[in-house]
Amino acid sequence: MTSQAKLIKTGLIKTGLVENQSVETQLFETLNPPQRMLMGPGPINAYPRVHQAISQSLIGQYDPVMTGYMNQVQSLYRGVFETRNQQTMLIDGTARSGIEAVLVSVLKPGDKVLIPVIGRFGHLLCEIARRVGAEVRTIDIPWGEVCPPEKVAAEMKAFQPKLLATVQGDTSTTMNQPLAELGEICHQHGVLFYCDATASVAGNELKTDAWHLDAVSVGLQKCLGGPSGSAPITLSDQCAEVINRRKHVEAGIRADHHTQGEDTMIQSNYFDLAMVMDYWGPERLNHHTEATSMLYAARECARIFLEEGAAQVIARHKQAGGAMAAGLQAMGLKLFGNQAYRMNNVVGVYIPETVDGDTVRLELLKRFGIEIGTSFGPLHGKIWRIGTMGYNARQECVLATLAALEAMLIKHKARIEPGVAVAAAMDYFG
Ligand SMILES: Cc1ncc(COP(=O)(O)O)c(C=O)c1O
Repeated sequence: MTSQAKLIKTGLIKTGLVENQSVETQLFETLNPPQRMLMGPGPINAYPRVHQAISQSLIGQYDPVMTGYMNQVQSLYRGVFETRNQQTMLIDGTARSGIEAVLVSVLKPGDKVLIPVIGRFGHLLCEIARRVGAEVRTIDIPWGEVCPPEKVAAEMKAFQPKLLATVQGDTSTTMNQPLAELGEICHQHGVLFYCDATASVAGNELKTDAWHLDAVSVGLQKCLGGPSGSAPITLSDQCAEVINRRKHVEAGIRADHHTQGEDTMIQSNYFDLAMVMDYWGPERLNHHTEATSMLYAARECARIFLEEGAAQVIARHKQAGGAMAAGLQAMGLKLFGNQAYRMNNVVGVYIPETVDGDTVRLELLKRFGIEIGTSFGPLHGKIWRIGTMGYNARQECVLATLAALEAMLIKHKARIEPGVAVAAAMDYFG
């Protein structure tokens, strides 16, 4: 046996020499993650077809098959976003990368942006916009509520922003911000309208064109039923024009026919949507190397959504979320937030006072292999968030989660009504 083979047997491996002394590291075991049922606010278990798509062969980024897939992805996501926008594509990164790409590309230092904040992810929009140097005005809404359109109309008149930026489904509070009226207000005032719909897309209605949205970004790891790591976005012609005024083609690939935009250069190279649009456009001007496996995943997520049909997928999420809420309430637990505006796909539920929320979550994971969500900021330790999304928006997932949670609450001596939660959820499913 070679000395390397001996080392591998002991779990150690030589990786090189530093000052004539060999460096050893561990090889660790072959990857074998446990099977979990992911019933938190995302990520969730991906559809099996998405796993299959990810494992397909890699091809080069300019292989005509690959560029053909890129065109297909654009077309598929126009369907998902309900838009005719030519500029519909993927940003390689988690959902946050889509948000950052839109905000850094649209907003210049000093530009005004109005942001209704209904939860943690509204704060994230403010954070990114401030880093870009924009002047941010917020409309602060108590967690568990949504922003009334009248407030947006009033602030828009007073502040005259370039952009209204909001989150549709803010998973931190489980609330779903209605967008149609906000879109109408933006349209009347000639203000661009951006929405982060990461957590709500495919589980709740999202009508980009009908609601006058100029930019929308999402992620795969919620109701679209994929892994995190790709951020589909769409941009209206008007928004694309604003961004292209800041166009700056990189020196190493610039040719004579490329004209630079008259406006200030976008402060990020990776998230420069003017360059990303050129990469996805007919010129296929090189930018990053498209994340092939994630594109396969994004493509399959969209195919699954469109094949089942938007209305049917949303109804499935509504039914699963409603059944979960009915089961929790039957147990005697109290739901968080204004239920008239709850997202279809996540339920917030108060943790019974006598139990420690994190202990119950951990035991649920260890004994049942089921994950539910904790919460952030002012809600931490007060509510759990239970998701029913994508592949997991199914009766068996809802019933198993309710049965397991009930068992854990009984074990922890919480005062609940035993034996009725699963029946209530089954009744809801009919
Ligand atoms: C509404 C919303 N926006 C943005 C994000 C950030 O997504 P990511 O972690 O994929 O960057 C999340 C993640 O939970 C989210 O729920």
